[in-house]
Parts: sequence; C-alpha cells; structure tokens
Amino acid sequence: MSTNTTDDKRKVTTMRLSEMKQRGEKIAMLTAYDYSMATLIDQAGIDVILVGDSASNVMAGNVTTLPITLDQMIYHAKSVIKGVRRALVVCDMPFGSYQGNSKEALASAIRIMKESHAEAVKMEGGAEIRESIERILSAGIPVMGHLGLTPQSINKFGTYAVRAKGEAEAAKLIADAHMLEQIGCFALVLEKIPAELASRVAAEVSIPVIGIGAGGGVDGQVLVMHDMLGINQGFSPKFLRRYDDLATHINQAVSHYIDDVKTGDFPNASEQY
Ligand code: KIV
Repeated sequence: MSTNTTDDKRKVTTMRLSEMKQRGEKIAMLTAYDYSMATLIDQAGIDVILVGDSASNVMAGNVTTLPITLDQMIYHAKSVIKGVRRALVVCDMPFGSYQGNSKEALASAIRIMKESHAEAVKMEGGAEIRESIERILSAGIPVMGHLGLTPQSINKFGTYAVRAKGEAEAAKLIADAHMLEQIGCFALVLEKIPAELASRVAAEVSIPVIGIGAGGGVDGQVLVMHDMLGINQGFSPKFLRRYDDLATHINQAVSHYIDDVKTGDFPNASEQY
C-alpha cells in the first residue's frame, strides 16, 4: 500500500501539515510559478507549493532574489492558485516588502492574500522581523518562517555557503526557531545548515520543519522545481537530487521540430485543414 499522500485527495491545510508531523508523515514541497506547472505538480500529489522568490532567478533570469517585486510575486501566485486543487499554496514575501516596518509588512501580506488568493506567506529571518511576523499573524494570515541560508540577505553573508556551522550562529538559529513556533508560525523552512542542527530543531519544535540542504532528519523537504527537473542546468549544489533532465529533452524536441520545419516534413497532410 502506498504511504505517500498522493492518494489522499483532501485539501492540504496548515492544520493537516501539523497532523502530518505528529504522525511522522513526511511533507513534500516544491516551488512553482505558473499555472501549467502548478497544475501538474498538484495532480502528482505534492503537499505544499511554494511560489518562491526564486522566481527572480529561474523565471526572470536575475542573479539574486532581490529584484523581484511584490506585484511580480502576486502575478506568479495568482497564476499558480488557478491550477491548484489540493496543495497548500504559500507565497514568498519578496525583499523590501516587509523589512521596513510591521505596518508595511502587513500591507504587503494583505495584498498577497487578497490579490493572489495564496493561503499563506513565507518570510526570511528571525528576531529581527518578529514584530512584522506577529502583526501579519494577528490579521489571520498564516506565516511560514525561513532560517539558515536566507537568500534575501546574500549581500550581508557574501556567500551561499552552509550557515550556522559555528556555535553562536547555531544558538541564534535554535532561539529563532523556538520564537517562530511560540508566536504562531505554522511551519519553518531551514535552508543549507548542518543536518544535525536541523534534526535537533525539528525534534524540539512542534511545528513542521521543511529542509532544503538540511538533511533527512526534518519533517519534509523542499526543492526548486527547475533544479530538480533538470531545467536549470547551471546549479549543482551537493543537496540537489535531479529527478529528470528536462533541459536535454526540451533541446531534443525543439531540434526535432526545427528539422521538421526546415525539411518541410511539418505540417504533413493530416496536420492541415
Ligand atoms: O524561493 C524559494 O524557492 C525558496 C526555497 C528555496 C525554500 O525560498
């Protein structure tokens, strides 16, 4: 008998994710940015779809996640929502939309919820953005936290290397995770930190902990769809498992089409009116 959630057609909610953690059922999360791909991964049974600000990289071709705007995130989330029946859809709050003050942060989160119909937001950071998270939570908007490597702070870190290897940074991360749980975040992403530290956090907090480059001792995993499908070939960190090589498939299909057009093979007699 299958043990994954693919057979379970019920809508995924924040409460169901909490139940999954309680019964030890792993949570599978992927990013999506458009209607067609969101439809496919939802039909395949993914539990959570993240409209990640990684759209800035894989959709818009930017080097970092910083340039993507609130309007652009809303556009992506709106497209994703239309294709999803079952998965919980979480939308990243983009850089600059919540760091200013808690009033601005709430206004940004409300725009995401009202205009895109996403079901939750994700925010990068711990104690430094506590007030903003609390204000958003107080409006009834579910918040997913994000600690460890937080790509919106790349200019502060100066590198995408593994975070929290030292004692002080690990201690801050543990304190931040407890704080996010205590104020009411429904889940937490831990990105690129030592597996042992991630396992400890997952064991200590009651909310689901979703890892990316954080080992197998957490409650679920998330990957960027373009990376795991092999569309984005220029990114090969140790934590990434590629489940397909779509770049090669697409190249072959397009080359075949070009040949057929050039040789006059396409369209043939049955492909015209
Ligand atoms: O934007 C994104 O895709 C993310 C994931 C890597 C967690 O934040």
